Amino acid sequence: MGKFIVTPVSTTDYRRLAEKRLPRFLYEYIDGGANEQDTMAANIADFRRYRLKQHVLRDVGDRDTSTTLLGQASSMPVALAPVGMAGMMARRGEVQGARSARTAGVPFTASTVGICPIEEIQAAVGVAPWFQLYMLRDRDIILGLLERAQAAGCGTLVFTVDLAVAGMRHADTRNGMLGGGLKGSLAKLWQIGTRPAWAIDVGLRGKPHNFGHLRDVVPDPNDLNAYKAFIDAQFDPTVTWKDIAWLREQWHGKILLKGIMEADDARAAVEAGVDGVLVSNHGGRQLDGVSSSISKLADVASAVGEQTEVYLDGGVRSGIDVVKAVALGATGVLIGRPWVWALAARGEAGLTDYLATLQKEISIAMALLGVNTMEDLTPDLIED
Ligand code: FNR
Ligand code: LAC
Repeated sequence: MGKFIVTPVSTTDYRRLAEKRLPRFLYEYIDGGANEQDTMAANIADFRRYRLKQHVLRDVGDRDTSTTLLGQASSMPVALAPVGMAGMMARRGEVQGARSARTAGVPFTASTVGICPIEEIQAAVGVAPWFQLYMLRDRDIILGLLERAQAAGCGTLVFTVDLAVAGMRHADTRNGMLGGGLKGSLAKLWQIGTRPAWAIDVGLRGKPHNFGHLRDVVPDPNDLNAYKAFIDAQFDPTVTWKDIAWLREQWHGKILLKGIMEADDARAAVEAGVDGVLVSNHGGRQLDGVSSSISKLADVASAVGEQTEVYLDGGVRSGIDVVKAVALGATGVLIGRPWVWALAARGEAGLTDYLATLQKEISIAMALLGVNTMEDLTPDLIED
Protein backbone atom coordinates (compact mmCIF):
# COMPACT_ATOMS: atom_id res chain seq x y z
CA MET A 1 0.00 0.00 0.00
CA GLY A 2 1.34 3.36 -0.99
CA LYS A 3 0.87 6.54 0.96
CA PHE A 4 -2.47 8.29 0.71
CA ILE A 5 -2.22 11.28 -1.61
CA VAL A 6 -4.17 14.39 -0.58
CA THR A 7 -2.82 16.63 -3.33
CA PRO A 8 -0.76 15.03 -6.08
CA VAL A 9 2.23 17.18 -6.95
CA SER A 10 5.16 15.27 -8.39
CA THR A 11 5.26 13.14 -11.52
CA THR A 12 5.55 10.09 -9.28
CA ASP A 13 2.32 11.01 -7.48
CA TYR A 14 0.39 11.15 -10.75
CA ARG A 15 1.96 7.94 -11.96
CA ARG A 16 0.81 6.19 -8.81
CA LEU A 17 -2.74 7.52 -9.18
CA ALA A 18 -2.78 6.52 -12.86
CA GLU A 19 -1.88 2.97 -11.87
CA LYS A 20 -4.88 2.82 -9.57
CA ARG A 21 -7.20 4.19 -12.19
CA LEU A 22 -6.20 2.33 -15.38
CA PRO A 23 -6.66 -1.30 -16.40
CA ARG A 24 -3.23 -2.91 -16.14
CA PHE A 25 -2.65 -3.43 -19.89
CA LEU A 26 -3.13 0.30 -20.49
CA TYR A 27 -1.03 1.38 -17.52
CA GLU A 28 1.81 -0.87 -18.67
CA TYR A 29 1.52 0.32 -22.27
CA ILE A 30 2.38 3.82 -21.03
CA ASP A 31 4.88 2.76 -18.41
CA GLY A 32 6.86 0.27 -20.44
CA GLY A 33 9.95 0.50 -22.58
CA ALA A 34 11.71 -1.78 -25.04
CA ASN A 35 13.33 -5.08 -24.07
CA GLU A 36 15.20 -4.83 -20.75
CA GLN A 37 14.22 -1.15 -20.42
CA ASP A 38 17.86 -0.06 -19.90
CA THR A 39 17.54 3.02 -22.05
CA MET A 40 14.28 4.03 -20.44
CA ALA A 41 15.96 3.88 -17.02
CA ALA A 42 19.03 5.76 -18.29
CA ASN A 43 16.86 8.60 -19.59
CA ILE A 44 15.84 9.32 -16.02
CA ALA A 45 19.04 8.38 -14.18
CA ASP A 46 21.28 10.50 -16.42
CA PHE A 47 19.36 13.70 -15.66
CA ARG A 48 20.50 13.22 -12.07
CA ARG A 49 24.15 13.08 -13.16
CA TYR A 50 24.12 16.69 -14.22
CA ARG A 51 24.40 19.09 -11.33
CA LEU A 52 23.35 22.72 -11.26
CA LYS A 53 25.57 25.55 -10.03
CA GLN A 54 23.83 27.72 -7.48
CA HIS A 55 24.44 31.47 -7.69
CA VAL A 56 23.31 34.10 -5.22
CA LEU A 57 22.76 37.87 -4.97
CA ARG A 58 22.02 38.52 -8.65
CA ASP A 59 18.60 40.25 -8.58
CA VAL A 60 16.19 37.59 -9.77
CA GLY A 61 13.12 39.71 -9.19
CA ASP A 62 12.04 39.77 -12.83
CA ARG A 63 12.06 36.18 -13.98
CA ASP A 64 10.42 35.08 -17.21
CA THR A 65 9.92 31.41 -18.09
CA SER A 66 8.43 32.17 -21.49
CA THR A 67 10.04 31.42 -24.82
CA THR A 68 9.33 30.74 -28.49
CA LEU A 69 9.07 27.16 -29.73
CA LEU A 70 9.22 26.81 -33.52
CA GLY A 71 7.79 30.26 -33.95
CA GLN A 72 5.04 29.77 -31.37
CA ALA A 73 4.95 31.75 -28.13
CA SER A 74 5.02 29.42 -25.12
CA SER A 75 4.78 30.13 -21.41
CA MET A 76 7.73 27.83 -20.76
CA PRO A 77 10.13 25.68 -22.82
CA VAL A 78 7.85 22.65 -22.64
CA ALA A 79 5.49 20.97 -25.11
CA LEU A 80 3.34 17.87 -24.78
CA ALA A 81 4.83 14.97 -26.76
CA PRO A 82 2.75 12.83 -29.11
CA VAL A 83 1.37 9.82 -27.25
CA GLY A 84 -0.66 7.21 -29.08
CA MET A 85 -4.06 6.25 -27.71
CA ALA A 86 -4.28 8.99 -25.07
CA GLY A 87 -8.03 8.75 -25.64
CA MET A 88 -7.91 5.31 -23.99
CA MET A 89 -6.33 6.76 -20.85
CA ALA A 90 -8.91 9.51 -20.26
CA ARG A 91 -12.23 10.31 -21.88
CA ARG A 92 -11.47 11.98 -25.25
CA GLY A 93 -7.97 12.28 -23.78
CA GLU A 94 -6.40 14.27 -26.60
CA VAL A 95 -9.06 16.96 -26.29
CA GLN A 96 -8.59 17.18 -22.53
CA GLY A 97 -4.81 17.21 -22.92
CA ALA A 98 -4.96 19.97 -25.52
CA ARG A 99 -7.26 22.02 -23.26
CA SER A 100 -4.79 21.81 -20.38
CA ALA A 101 -1.97 22.74 -22.75
CA ARG A 102 -3.95 25.76 -23.92
CA THR A 103 -4.59 26.84 -20.32
CA ALA A 104 -0.90 26.44 -19.51
CA GLY A 105 0.11 28.22 -22.71
CA VAL A 106 2.20 25.40 -24.18
CA PRO A 107 1.94 23.41 -27.44
CA PHE A 108 0.12 20.07 -27.60
CA THR A 109 1.13 17.40 -30.12
CA ALA A 110 -1.50 15.10 -31.62
CA SER A 111 -0.22 11.58 -32.45
CA THR A 112 -0.85 9.80 -35.76
CA VAL A 113 -2.35 7.03 -33.64
CA GLY A 114 -4.33 9.28 -31.33
CA ILE A 115 -7.97 8.51 -30.67
CA CYS A 116 -9.23 12.08 -31.22
CA PRO A 117 -8.26 13.48 -34.62
CA ILE A 118 -6.85 16.97 -35.13
CA GLU A 119 -10.21 18.29 -36.36
CA GLU A 120 -11.92 17.23 -33.13
CA ILE A 121 -9.13 18.80 -31.06
CA GLN A 122 -9.16 22.01 -33.04
CA ALA A 123 -12.94 22.35 -32.84
CA ALA A 124 -13.11 21.60 -29.11
CA VAL A 125 -10.12 23.63 -28.01
CA GLY A 126 -9.97 26.44 -30.55
CA VAL A 127 -6.24 25.94 -31.02
CA ALA A 128 -4.65 23.73 -33.66
CA PRO A 129 -2.20 21.21 -32.19
CA TRP A 130 1.19 20.26 -33.55
CA PHE A 131 0.70 17.11 -35.60
CA GLN A 132 2.93 14.06 -35.36
CA LEU A 133 3.28 11.78 -38.34
CA TYR A 134 5.11 8.56 -39.19
CA MET A 135 6.07 7.69 -42.74
CA LEU A 136 3.50 5.23 -44.08
CA ARG A 137 4.09 3.08 -47.14
CA ASP A 138 1.08 4.52 -48.91
CA ARG A 139 2.22 8.09 -49.65
CA ASP A 140 -1.32 9.03 -50.66
CA ILE A 141 -2.37 8.49 -47.05
CA ILE A 142 0.48 10.79 -45.98
CA LEU A 143 -0.60 13.45 -48.46
CA GLY A 144 -4.19 13.16 -47.26
CA LEU A 145 -3.09 13.60 -43.64
CA LEU A 146 -0.88 16.58 -44.49
CA GLU A 147 -3.84 18.17 -46.21
CA ARG A 148 -6.02 17.58 -43.16
CA ALA A 149 -3.34 19.02 -40.87
CA GLN A 150 -3.05 22.11 -42.99
CA ALA A 151 -6.83 22.53 -43.18
CA ALA A 152 -7.06 22.22 -39.39
CA GLY A 153 -4.47 24.98 -39.07
CA CYS A 154 -1.57 22.90 -37.71
CA GLY A 155 1.63 24.92 -38.11
CA THR A 156 4.14 22.32 -36.97
CA LEU A 157 4.65 18.77 -38.14
CA VAL A 158 6.54 16.51 -35.73
CA PHE A 159 7.90 13.84 -38.01
CA THR A 160 8.98 10.68 -36.22
CA VAL A 161 11.89 8.79 -37.78
CA ASP A 162 12.89 6.29 -35.10
CA LEU A 163 10.10 3.84 -35.82
CA ALA A 164 11.29 2.08 -38.99
CA VAL A 165 9.93 -0.95 -37.16
CA ALA A 166 8.18 -1.09 -33.80
CA GLY A 167 10.41 -1.84 -30.82
CA MET A 168 9.73 -4.89 -28.67
CA ARG A 169 7.81 -3.85 -25.59
CA HIS A 170 7.53 -7.12 -23.74
CA ALA A 171 4.81 -5.90 -21.38
CA ASP A 172 2.45 -5.32 -24.31
CA THR A 173 2.96 -8.86 -25.62
CA ARG A 174 2.60 -10.31 -22.15
CA ASN A 175 -0.64 -8.39 -21.61
CA GLY A 176 -2.15 -9.03 -25.02
CA MET A 177 -2.31 -5.24 -25.43
CA LEU A 178 -3.40 -5.49 -29.08
CA GLY A 179 -4.19 -9.11 -29.78
CA GLY A 180 -3.41 -12.15 -27.67
CA GLY A 181 -6.48 -14.01 -28.95
CA LEU A 182 -9.28 -15.13 -26.66
CA LYS A 183 -6.96 -15.33 -23.67
CA GLY A 184 -5.86 -11.75 -24.28
CA SER A 185 -9.45 -10.53 -24.55
CA LEU A 186 -10.47 -12.29 -21.33
CA ALA A 187 -7.45 -10.95 -19.47
CA LYS A 188 -8.21 -7.43 -20.61
CA LEU A 189 -11.87 -7.75 -19.70
CA TRP A 190 -10.86 -8.96 -16.27
CA GLN A 191 -8.52 -6.00 -15.78
CA ILE A 192 -11.23 -3.60 -16.94
CA GLY A 193 -13.56 -5.20 -14.39
CA THR A 194 -11.18 -4.19 -11.62
CA ARG A 195 -11.31 -0.54 -12.76
CA PRO A 196 -15.02 0.36 -12.85
CA ALA A 197 -14.48 4.12 -12.77
CA TRP A 198 -12.36 3.90 -15.91
CA ALA A 199 -14.80 1.43 -17.50
CA ILE A 200 -17.69 3.88 -17.23
CA ASP A 201 -15.88 7.16 -17.80
CA VAL A 202 -13.55 6.11 -20.62
CA GLY A 203 -14.68 2.63 -21.68
CA LEU A 204 -18.33 3.58 -22.18
CA ARG A 205 -18.53 7.35 -22.31
CA GLY A 206 -15.26 7.92 -24.17
CA LYS A 207 -16.27 6.26 -27.44
CA PRO A 208 -15.54 5.95 -30.30
CA HIS A 209 -12.28 4.19 -29.53
CA ASN A 210 -10.71 4.16 -32.93
CA PHE A 211 -7.70 5.97 -34.37
CA GLY A 212 -9.29 9.19 -35.59
CA HIS A 213 -6.68 9.94 -38.24
CA LEU A 214 -6.89 6.52 -39.85
CA ARG A 215 -10.63 5.98 -39.69
CA ASP A 216 -11.09 6.25 -43.44
CA VAL A 217 -8.26 4.00 -44.46
CA VAL A 218 -8.58 1.08 -42.06
CA PRO A 219 -10.96 -1.73 -43.01
CA ASP A 220 -12.87 -1.92 -39.72
CA PRO A 221 -12.52 1.30 -37.74
CA ASN A 222 -13.99 -0.22 -34.60
CA ASP A 223 -11.59 -3.11 -34.37
CA LEU A 224 -8.34 -2.11 -32.66
CA ASN A 225 -6.78 -5.34 -33.88
CA ALA A 226 -7.48 -4.32 -37.47
CA TYR A 227 -5.62 -1.10 -36.74
CA LYS A 228 -2.68 -3.05 -35.41
CA ALA A 229 -2.56 -5.09 -38.61
CA PHE A 230 -2.84 -1.90 -40.65
CA ILE A 231 -0.02 -0.21 -38.78
CA ASP A 232 2.25 -3.26 -38.97
CA ALA A 233 1.65 -3.34 -42.71
CA GLN A 234 1.94 0.42 -43.21
CA PHE A 235 4.92 1.59 -41.14
CA ASP A 236 7.62 1.99 -43.73
CA PRO A 237 11.09 0.57 -42.94
CA THR A 238 12.48 1.72 -46.32
CA VAL A 239 12.39 5.43 -45.49
CA THR A 240 15.55 7.44 -46.22
CA TRP A 241 16.68 11.07 -46.22
CA LYS A 242 15.23 11.34 -49.74
CA ASP A 243 11.79 10.90 -48.24
CA ILE A 244 12.48 13.73 -45.81
CA ALA A 245 13.42 15.93 -48.76
CA TRP A 246 10.13 14.88 -50.41
CA LEU A 247 8.25 15.69 -47.22
CA ARG A 248 9.94 19.09 -47.09
CA GLU A 249 8.46 19.85 -50.52
CA GLN A 250 4.97 18.77 -49.47
CA TRP A 251 4.71 20.54 -46.12
CA HIS A 252 5.04 24.29 -45.92
CA GLY A 253 4.81 24.64 -42.15
CA LYS A 254 7.56 23.83 -39.67
CA ILE A 255 9.08 20.35 -39.44
CA LEU A 256 10.54 18.98 -36.21
CA LEU A 257 12.40 15.74 -36.91
CA LYS A 258 11.88 13.40 -33.96
CA GLY A 259 14.31 10.65 -33.04
CA ILE A 260 17.72 12.19 -33.83
CA MET A 261 20.45 10.95 -31.46
CA GLU A 262 23.72 11.47 -33.36
CA ALA A 263 25.45 14.60 -34.63
CA ASP A 264 25.81 13.24 -38.18
CA ASP A 265 22.08 12.55 -38.42
CA ALA A 266 21.42 16.02 -37.03
CA ARG A 267 23.59 17.54 -39.79
CA ALA A 268 21.71 15.53 -42.42
CA ALA A 269 18.46 16.81 -40.96
CA VAL A 270 19.63 20.41 -41.33
CA GLU A 271 20.62 19.65 -44.90
CA ALA A 272 17.14 18.27 -45.57
CA GLY A 273 15.77 21.63 -44.53
CA VAL A 274 13.95 20.83 -41.29
CA ASP A 275 13.25 23.55 -38.73
CA GLY A 276 14.27 21.61 -35.68
CA VAL A 277 15.62 18.28 -34.46
CA LEU A 278 14.27 16.42 -31.47
CA VAL A 279 16.89 14.43 -29.58
CA SER A 280 14.85 11.41 -28.60
CA ASN A 281 15.01 7.65 -28.19
CA HIS A 282 11.21 7.43 -28.07
CA GLY A 283 11.21 7.31 -24.31
CA GLY A 284 13.29 4.10 -24.40
CA ARG A 285 10.55 2.29 -26.33
CA GLN A 286 12.55 1.58 -29.48
CA LEU A 287 16.27 0.69 -29.42
CA ASP A 288 17.11 -0.59 -25.97
CA GLY A 289 20.81 -0.07 -25.22
CA VAL A 290 21.06 3.32 -26.90
CA SER A 291 22.27 6.20 -24.70
CA SER A 292 19.95 8.44 -22.77
CA SER A 293 18.73 11.44 -24.72
CA ILE A 294 20.08 13.96 -22.18
CA SER A 295 23.61 12.54 -22.56
CA LYS A 296 23.40 13.16 -26.33
CA LEU A 297 21.98 16.66 -26.18
CA ALA A 298 25.21 18.68 -25.92
CA ASP A 299 26.76 16.85 -28.91
CA VAL A 300 23.78 17.50 -31.12
CA ALA A 301 23.46 21.10 -29.94
CA SER A 302 27.09 21.86 -30.68
CA ALA A 303 26.81 20.22 -34.13
CA VAL A 304 23.66 22.01 -35.35
CA GLY A 305 22.53 24.43 -32.65
CA GLU A 306 23.58 27.45 -34.73
CA GLN A 307 21.55 26.34 -37.76
CA THR A 308 18.41 24.87 -36.25
CA GLU A 309 16.42 24.53 -33.07
CA VAL A 310 17.28 21.58 -30.87
CA TYR A 311 14.69 19.87 -28.66
CA LEU A 312 14.87 16.94 -26.28
CA ASP A 313 12.50 14.37 -24.88
CA GLY A 314 12.92 11.34 -22.63
CA GLY A 315 13.09 11.32 -18.87
CA VAL A 316 11.96 14.88 -18.16
CA ARG A 317 10.16 14.55 -14.83
CA SER A 318 10.39 18.01 -13.24
CA GLY A 319 11.07 21.67 -13.86
CA ILE A 320 14.63 21.05 -12.71
CA ASP A 321 15.08 18.62 -15.63
CA VAL A 322 13.67 21.24 -18.01
CA VAL A 323 16.19 23.80 -16.75
CA LYS A 324 19.07 21.32 -17.15
CA ALA A 325 18.07 20.52 -20.75
CA VAL A 326 17.77 24.19 -21.71
CA ALA A 327 21.14 24.94 -20.10
CA LEU A 328 22.69 22.10 -22.12
CA GLY A 329 21.45 23.57 -25.39
CA ALA A 330 17.76 22.72 -25.87
CA THR A 331 15.31 25.34 -27.06
CA GLY A 332 12.65 23.29 -25.34
CA VAL A 333 11.68 19.81 -24.16
CA LEU A 334 8.71 17.55 -24.75
CA ILE A 335 7.17 15.50 -21.99
CA GLY A 336 5.52 12.15 -22.79
CA ARG A 337 4.48 9.84 -19.98
CA PRO A 338 4.10 12.55 -17.32
CA TRP A 339 1.26 14.33 -19.09
CA VAL A 340 -0.61 11.10 -19.69
CA TRP A 341 -0.25 10.04 -16.06
CA ALA A 342 -1.59 13.39 -14.85
CA LEU A 343 -4.48 13.18 -17.31
CA ALA A 344 -5.32 9.56 -16.49
CA ALA A 345 -5.16 10.30 -12.78
CA ARG A 346 -7.11 13.55 -12.55
CA GLY A 347 -8.26 14.58 -16.04
CA GLU A 348 -7.89 18.04 -17.51
CA ALA A 349 -7.71 19.73 -14.09
CA GLY A 350 -4.96 17.36 -12.96
CA LEU A 351 -2.86 18.01 -16.03
CA THR A 352 -3.40 21.76 -15.73
CA ASP A 353 -2.15 21.59 -12.12
CA TYR A 354 0.77 19.44 -13.16
CA LEU A 355 1.84 21.95 -15.82
CA ALA A 356 1.50 24.83 -13.36
CA THR A 357 3.78 22.97 -10.95
CA LEU A 358 6.30 22.42 -13.73
CA GLN A 359 6.36 26.13 -14.50
CA LYS A 360 6.76 26.99 -10.82
CA GLU A 361 9.66 24.57 -10.52
CA ILE A 362 11.35 26.19 -13.50
CA SER A 363 10.86 29.67 -12.07
CA ILE A 364 12.18 28.73 -8.62
CA ALA A 365 15.18 26.94 -10.08
CA MET A 366 15.97 30.03 -12.18
CA ALA A 367 15.84 32.22 -9.09
CA LEU A 368 18.24 29.98 -7.21
CA LEU A 369 20.58 29.72 -10.18
CA GLY A 370 20.64 33.50 -10.40
CA VAL A 371 19.06 33.91 -13.86
CA ASN A 372 16.02 35.72 -15.23
CA THR A 373 15.50 34.47 -18.79
CA MET A 374 15.81 31.36 -20.93
CA GLU A 375 18.79 32.95 -22.73
CA ASP A 376 20.58 33.12 -19.38
CA LEU A 377 20.40 29.32 -19.04
CA THR A 378 23.79 28.37 -20.44
CA PRO A 379 26.11 25.32 -20.16
CA ASP A 380 28.33 27.00 -17.57
CA LEU A 381 25.49 26.51 -15.05
CA ILE A 382 25.94 22.74 -15.30
CA GLU A 383 28.61 20.42 -13.96
CA ASP A 384 28.65 16.69 -14.55
C1 FNR B 1 4.90 7.49 -27.12
N1 FNR B 1 5.71 8.16 -28.03
C2 FNR B 1 5.22 8.42 -29.30
N2 FNR B 1 5.98 9.11 -30.19
C3 FNR B 1 5.49 9.40 -31.42
O1 FNR B 1 6.19 10.02 -32.21
N3 FNR B 1 4.23 8.99 -31.76
C4 FNR B 1 3.43 8.30 -30.93
O2 FNR B 1 2.30 7.97 -31.27
C5 FNR B 1 3.95 7.96 -29.66
N4 FNR B 1 3.21 7.22 -28.79
C6 FNR B 1 3.65 7.00 -27.52
C7 FNR B 1 2.84 6.33 -26.62
C8 FNR B 1 3.25 6.19 -25.30
C9 FNR B 1 2.36 5.50 -24.33
C10 FNR B 1 4.51 6.70 -24.89
C11 FNR B 1 4.97 6.58 -23.46
C12 FNR B 1 5.32 7.34 -25.79
C13 FNR B 1 7.01 8.72 -27.62
C14 FNR B 1 6.85 10.11 -27.02
O3 FNR B 1 6.46 11.04 -27.99
C15 FNR B 1 8.16 10.63 -26.38
O4 FNR B 1 9.22 10.48 -27.29
C16 FNR B 1 8.52 9.90 -25.09
O5 FNR B 1 7.38 9.56 -24.35
C17 FNR B 1 9.43 10.79 -24.24
O6 FNR B 1 9.83 10.16 -23.10
P1 FNR B 1 9.13 10.35 -21.65
O7 FNR B 1 8.81 11.82 -21.48
O8 FNR B 1 7.91 9.50 -21.69
O9 FNR B 1 10.16 9.84 -20.73
C1 LAC C 1 4.50 3.97 -29.15
C2 LAC C 1 4.15 4.30 -30.58
C3 LAC C 1 2.72 4.53 -30.80
O1 LAC C 1 5.55 4.39 -28.69
O2 LAC C 1 4.92 5.37 -31.05
O3 LAC C 1 3.71 3.24 -28.50
